[in-house]
Amino acid sequence: MTDAIVVEGVHKRYGDKRALDGLDLTVRRSTVHAVLGPNGAGKTTAVRILSTLLRHDEGRVEVAGFDVRGRAGEVRRRIGLLGQYAAVDEELGGRQNLEMFGRLYHLGVRRAGTRADELLARFGLADTGRGPVKEYSGGMRRRLDLAASLITDPEVLFLDEPTTGLDPRGRAEVWSAVRSLVGGGTTVLLTTQYLEEADQLADRISVIDAGRVAAEGTADELKAMVAGDRIDVVVRDGSQLVAAAQLLGDGAVVDADRRLIGAPAPDRMATLTRTVRALEEAGIEAEDIAVRRPTLDEVFLSLTDRRPERAEVAA
Ligand SMILES: Nc1ncnc2c1ncn2[C@@H]1O[C@H](COP(=O)(O)OP(=O)(O)OP(=O)(O)O)[C@@H](O)[C@H]1O
Ligand SMILES: [Mg+2]
Repeated sequence: MTDAIVVEGVHKRYGDKRALDGLDLTVRRSTVHAVLGPNGAGKTTAVRILSTLLRHDEGRVEVAGFDVRGRAGEVRRRIGLLGQYAAVDEELGGRQNLEMFGRLYHLGVRRAGTRADELLARFGLADTGRGPVKEYSGGMRRRLDLAASLITDPEVLFLDEPTTGLDPRGRAEVWSAVRSLVGGGTTVLLTTQYLEEADQLADRISVIDAGRVAAEGTADELKAMVAGDRIDVVVRDGSQLVAAAQLLGDGAVVDADRRLIGAPAPDRMATLTRTVRALEEAGIEAEDIAVRRPTLDEVFLSLTDRRPERAEVAA
C-alpha cells in the first residue's frame, strides 16, 4: 500500500525568501505525524502545498497516492484541512456552519443536515443550541473547525496548529477529538509548536527548521538521538548557584528562579556520585539532585540550534 503522504526534496520560495529548502516527509496511512517547528519554519507553507492551495517550485509531493500538481482534483476529494486561522463564520451557529460547509462540498440539503448533526454529536457540540459561534469558547470553536474539516470524511487530514492559543482544557478537548479520528483510519498530519502536543498525539515527529527536516523519528527516538541523560541540581542557597554551576562543568545551564542547574550526565550514576561528592567538598547544600532523560524541549532546542534562555545569574 502506498504511503498517505510523500514529500521529496521540496523547495518553495517567496521572492528571495526560501520558505522550504529541500523538505522530505513520509507519512504512513492511518498514522498521526507531527511537523514540529518554531515560527517561520515553513509549517503552513508545507500544509498549503500538501492541500493544493499553493504550488511548490521543485520536488515531488503526493497525497493519498496522487500528485498534488498533476492530480489536484483527486487529492482535494480525499483531504480535509484545518487552517491555522479559523474558517467558521462567527455570526452563524455551529449547525448552520457545518451545513454551509456541507453545501460547499455539494452534499444535498438533507445529507448536509444529517452530516452536521453527526459531527456535532461526535465532537460534543450537539447541545450548543442556536447561539452564534462568537459566543463559543476557544476549545469549542476549534472543535467546530475540526468538524468542518471532516465534512467529507477525508482519508488524509491536515491540521495546522490545531491548539495554538487554547488553554490547557481546550487543548485537551482538541487532543481527544484528534485521537478519536485515527481509530477510524484517517491519516493526520498536524503542525505544532508544542513539543508536548507532538509527544501526546503523534506516532512520528519531523522537527523542521528553516524549511528542512532537522530530525525525524518517534518521540523516544528523538530523545535518544540527542543522547545524553541530564542531571538536575537544586541548591538550597541561591548565592551558591554560580559555584555549583562551575562544579558541573561546561554544559551547565542555570535557572536562577528555581535555583536549578542542569547539565549533561553522559555516564549517569558516575556523574551523580561525582556531583554529590563535589558539592559536599565545596560545602554546597543541595535540596534535590536527579538524573533523568532529556525532555522533548531540550531535544528540540538542541536540534534547531536554539539555546534555552539562560537566566541571568547575579555573580
Ligand atoms: N506569502 C508570503 N510571502 C512572503 N514570505 C512568506 C509568505 N508566507 C510565508 N512567508 C515566509 O516563509 C517562511 C515560512 O513561513 P510559514 O508561514 O510557512 O511558517 P510557519 O512555520 O507556519 O510559522 P508559524 O509558526 O508562525 O505559523 C517565513 O519566513 C515567512 O515569513
Ligand atoms: Mg504557520
